[in-house]
Amino acid sequence: MNIEIKLLSGALGAEIKGIDLTDVSDENFKKVNDLLLEHKVIFFRDQPITKDQQVALAEKFGPLETHAYVKGLEGYPEIVRIVKGKEEKNQWGENWHSDVSYNVKPTKAVILRSLKIPPVGGDTCFSNMELAWETLDPKIQDKIKNKKAIHSSLGAEFFIDNYKYMEGNEKRNYDSYSNEHPIVRTHPETGKKILYVNWTYTKQIIGMDKQESDQILKEIFEHQARLDLTCRFSWTENTVAIWDNRSVIHYAIADFFPGRGLGYERIMDRIAIEGDHPQ
Ligand code: SIN
Repeated sequence: MNIEIKLLSGALGAEIKGIDLTDVSDENFKKVNDLLLEHKVIFFRDQPITKDQQVALAEKFGPLETHAYVKGLEGYPEIVRIVKGKEEKNQWGENWHSDVSYNVKPTKAVILRSLKIPPVGGDTCFSNMELAWETLDPKIQDKIKNKKAIHSSLGAEFFIDNYKYMEGNEKRNYDSYSNEHPIVRTHPETGKKILYVNWTYTKQIIGMDKQESDQILKEIFEHQARLDLTCRFSWTENTVAIWDNRSVIHYAIADFFPGRGLGYERIMDRIAIEGDHPQ
């Protein structure tokens, strides 16, 4: 089968045809992983794979995570079903973030499969954090290049309480917790520098007074959201997305307004693969 690659923007992202995601041979996995490292987020439409097939694909990348706060599916603790109800305006992941950057070992990659998609609304944006580092103002680069920042998990309410159909896990830990990571990390597979902070979870630069830290983080967050660093994907049902959570941030757009986007369900099955300790 010939592989077809359609780039989504000049910054990152590609839609791929001609790869069978149910083939979990080392040879096929290498093709998928090489495409992921090159494009940072890849999409495969019309993939009615089963939960077991999604798990098998995810396991090729490494050990799977369970979410600190959100319950997985019955029999599949590593699959989080992200549900936005018809009547809901909010949706999970609706601001710029890198998944679980507050963990000691934040997620390496995510495999998301779309089950139900509204006729309009609910696209997801991704931004390329290698480019964000390369294009950052050198004065800011200089100030932050050897610094670390604190990332906070924000506690269980953040993931559950605003979303009617998201269920907390039984061993529910309500509290937030934090970890520190280098602001500029090195990608363990490509060796590239990555700007590793995000609007949702990064709270303070260590070794800088709060006011200066707030100002610099604000400038960085604005920079990361520059549209020329991003791509935007409009979902159809049965699409599989894989993103490299180390080198992108993403934003699930909650544009569900009355008379247009509101009134429809949006349902995704998410599996996250455990990452390493950012260096
Ligand atoms: C997420 O933020 O992990 C979910 C993204 C999406 O639903 O598009």
